[in-house]
Amino acid sequence: MDIMIFRSSEAVAEYATQVIKDLINKKPATVLGMATGSTPLLMYRRLIEECRRGFLSFREVTTFNLDEYYGVNGEDARSYRAYMQREFFDHIDIVPENTHLPACSSDQDHLDVSRNYEALIAGKGGIDLQVLGLGQNGHIGFNEPTSSLGSRTRIKTLTQGTLNINSQYFSSESQPELAITMGIATILEARQILMIATGAKKAEPVRQFVEGPVSTMCPASALQFHNNTQVLLDEDAASLLANREYYESVQVQKRQLAEQFRGI
Ligand code: PGA
Repeated sequence: MDIMIFRSSEAVAEYATQVIKDLINKKPATVLGMATGSTPLLMYRRLIEECRRGFLSFREVTTFNLDEYYGVNGEDARSYRAYMQREFFDHIDIVPENTHLPACSSDQDHLDVSRNYEALIAGKGGIDLQVLGLGQNGHIGFNEPTSSLGSRTRIKTLTQGTLNINSQYFSSESQPELAITMGIATILEARQILMIATGAKKAEPVRQFVEGPVSTMCPASALQFHNNTQVLLDEDAASLLANREYYESVQVQKRQLAEQFRGI
């Protein structure tokens, strides 16, 4: 894992935007894995701006979101489909049919929906770049603690902690307790991963997944198995890391090597 520490969440978003922009400009038919939550919002705003100014086009891009609430219709403002439309898709030139979420209503067979989602991702040649946020309990997607590190897309029961955090968006009687999420093994198949964590509430899960053991109790720690993951942190999220100086010296060395390489 490449641990990169930035002075602010804006600087994190700027870097993530640049990585995605470079990738799409190199490969217009990029397959992107998308995340919801508050973390990627700054990045979405910047990507929208790049698109608006004509520096970036999503016309050939396909997207797959990590997760969706089970039984929540895409028309419902609390669904992740609605979030994606509102915060991103409605403002860029993406083809609506190329945007995918693992939506499942209660009268659908969730096993079929899950299998089809995996098949759809595979049919597009797999995910080129997956954006991830980090739960306060270390989850990625809705892979809650104790999720199998070999899991595929499936229904997950949300933990009480996740329900409490998400309760601001739901009245108590209508809050979904289930979600469909890409599995940890699904996520690890992405060719590149950008894990974004900002703010002091992420300092402890960041410490655990970066410097702790690989464990189902901290699902993000599975990223230690992935060979092309960049962990983008602001100062607050990085504040509990024990080996910060080392991560910073790695970045200095990488820049020097890249400059030398360019000079050859
Ligand atoms: P957040 O959620 O970006 O709203 O903090 C991240 C997550 O739970 O994955």
